Amino acid sequence: MKVSLAGKVAIVTGAASGIGLAIVQQFLDSEIDGVVAVDIAREIPDVLLQANYGSRLKYVSGDVTLDETSNRFTQMALESFGRIDVLVNNAGINVVKRIHEHTSDEWDRVMNTNVKALFYSAKYVIPVMMQQKSGVILNTGSISGEVGLLTQGAYGPSKGAVHELTRQMAIEYAPYGIRVNAIGCGTIDTPLVTKSAIESGNIEGFMSMLRDNHPIGRIASPEEVAGFFTYLASDLVSFFTGSILMMDGGFTAR
Ligand code: NAI
Repeated sequence: MKVSLAGKVAIVTGAASGIGLAIVQQFLDSEIDGVVAVDIAREIPDVLLQANYGSRLKYVSGDVTLDETSNRFTQMALESFGRIDVLVNNAGINVVKRIHEHTSDEWDRVMNTNVKALFYSAKYVIPVMMQQKSGVILNTGSISGEVGLLTQGAYGPSKGAVHELTRQMAIEYAPYGIRVNAIGCGTIDTPLVTKSAIESGNIEGFMSMLRDNHPIGRIASPEEVAGFFTYLASDLVSFFTGSILMMDGGFTAR
């Protein structure tokens, strides 16, 4: 089944790498009218430049932990495309440590990037969606937000907060036609996981532990996740809101 996003405009954060990059590519390949890709990376990734998406793709370089970045990407979407149908809050970081080992700065960086950024994007994007009386917000959640996992000291609680923010937003804005869901990802093969494997000090041990912990016997590709985001951004799932949809190879089913 080919999902079409024709007529829609999306903002995707964390768009220069991994899951976010795959989402931007799939959205654009699904006939979407326009995407504003947001990332702290200064330059638009080569792979997006080379794909020649033309005026359907705009890039905003900015830090999602800052209020002004949300203001800028919202304005960019409105000035370029005139509306915002889909917001993907996807930018995220992980520091692989136990709770007491984090520095205050690490704790704040994880919480600000993974949680506070959702408050900032809500501040600017939700009023636009309320006025339109429609919108879809997709938050990238995690198995770490549902179950305790070793060395996810700040990351696990940050993703738990993302799941709760999803429920809070869903009930608050349902009367305005805005649907809000989180995708609770299992392990996805991205640079974030590679970095965590290196930080663990035992790359092969870390990766095989990840594979073994997923009943499906492997980790996922960013493209598999992006397909699900594309489906959830479409009009095919109009009764879904407030859900934490676990896309985790059976991890949390055990
Ligand atoms: P990634 O590291 O490949 O991509 C994350 C992107 O976010 C990068 O391009 C980075 O520059 C950007 N970013 C980081 N901090 C930012 C900031 N302050 N402002 C703007 N952009 C910023 O990581 P990945 O794996 O694609 O992660 C995407 C999301 O998926 C994150 O929210 C992560 O927590 C979540 N996730 C990932 C899992 C995995 O196994 N890879 C599992 C569960 C959730």
